[in-house]
Amino acid sequence: MSDNIIPFSIPDITNDDKKAVLKSLESRWLTGGPKAKEFEQLFANFIETKYAISVNSCTAALHLSLKALNIKPGDEVIVPVLTFAATANAALFCGAKPVFVDVDAKTFNISTGDFEKKITKKTKAVIPVHYAGQACDMKEILEIAKDHNLHIVEDCAHSAGSTYQGKQTGTFGVGCFSFYPTKNMTTFEGGMITTNDEVIARKCALARSHCMTKDAFDREKLSWYYDVIDLGYNYRLNDVQAAIGISQLKRLNNMNEDKRKNSQYLTSKLKDISGIITPFEANNRYHPYHLYVIRVIKSDFGIDRNELYQRLSEKGIGLSVHYTPLHLLSFYKKTLGYERGDFPVAEELYEQILSLPMYPQLKKEQMDFIVQQIGASYNKSNEK
Ligand SMILES: Cc1ncc(COP(=O)(O)O)c(C=O)c1O
Repeated sequence: MSDNIIPFSIPDITNDDKKAVLKSLESRWLTGGPKAKEFEQLFANFIETKYAISVNSCTAALHLSLKALNIKPGDEVIVPVLTFAATANAALFCGAKPVFVDVDAKTFNISTGDFEKKITKKTKAVIPVHYAGQACDMKEILEIAKDHNLHIVEDCAHSAGSTYQGKQTGTFGVGCFSFYPTKNMTTFEGGMITTNDEVIARKCALARSHCMTKDAFDREKLSWYYDVIDLGYNYRLNDVQAAIGISQLKRLNNMNEDKRKNSQYLTSKLKDISGIITPFEANNRYHPYHLYVIRVIKSDFGIDRNELYQRLSEKGIGLSVHYTPLHLLSFYKKTLGYERGDFPVAEELYEQILSLPMYPQLKKEQMDFIVQQIGASYNKSNEK
C-alpha cells in the first residue's frame, strides 16, 4: 500500500546515485558502453570471483547459469519450495523439471536432509536460496553436491554482501544476484552472475546478447559482420543501470550494516512477546537482513498471522509474506503434480510468517510503533 505510514520497503537513493545516473544520461552510452563493464569488474572484486556478468534481472541470471551448465529437458533441478517463482522457472525455461525440497524450520533455508532424499539419477543441479539474506549451510550443500556430482547455482537475490564462514555468497557455485528496488542494492531492475569458471562466464556473456560473435578476420574486413552461434537472448543491463549500480555498490556494506542494526533493535524489543518468534541467526554467517521475518504462533499469541496482518495494515504498517510455498500455487500444482501435505515444514511456516518493514532508513520511532502495535494486538487477544 502506497499510503502506509511505514512503507514495507523504500529504496535507498542518495544524491550521489542521482548524479551518477544523470552523468551517464549525458554520455553517449546508454547501453553497451563502458559502465556495465566497470560495474562487472567492481562487483567481481567485491564478491571475490574472477568473473561477474551483468544482466537485466536475477531471473535472467538464473536462466543463463543453468543454460551454461547445460541443463536440458529430462534433467531435474532441486529447488527449495519456500522461494520466489523465478527460482523454479529457471529450470522450466531450460525444459528441466524443478524438484521441490522442504525447508529448515529455523533458518527457512533449504533442508539438506530433504535435499539429499530427493536426488535421483536425473538430478543435475541444486539452487540453494539464501533466504532473507542468510546464507544456507554451504558446507553440507557442497558435500552433498560433490557426492552426487551436482552443479550449484546459488540464488543470491536476497544476499548481496552476505557471507558464510567469511566468504561471500555467490562464490560457492554460480552466483545469481538481484538488483530489484527492494533488494540490498538496486539498479531499478537488474542482476549479476558471479563465477570463477571462464567457460561459464563466456557462455553467459554470449547468451546475454543473442549469442552474437564477431570473427576477428571478418571484423577487420567488414565491420558490420557478425555470426549467431546459438540461441541467445537480450538480457543486457544498460549503462544507466550500471552507473547507479556502481554508486550503490560503494554503500552496500553500510546499507546492510544499518539493516542489521535495525533488525537487532527489533529483535530486542519483540523477543519477549509471547507467541512471536524473531529471526534465527545461524553461526558463522553475516546476515544482511534483506527481509525481517517473524513467526506468529497463534496458541501463544492469541491471534493468527492473518489477523495480525490485518490489524497492523489498518495502522498503516506495510507488510508482506515471503513466500506462498511454490507447490501451493496453481501453475506448479498443475504442471508438477504436487499436493498440500507434501512439504509440512514450509506449509506450517506459511501460516505463521510475516515480513515486517526493513530498510536502512527505518527510524527507531517507526520500529517502536511497529513493536507497540504488535504488543497491543497481543493484549487485545488476551482481553477477549
Ligand atoms: C529468491 C528470489 N529469486 C529470484 C528473484 C528474481 O529476481 P529478479 O526480480 O531480479 O528477476 C527474486 C525476486 O524477488 C527472489 O526473491
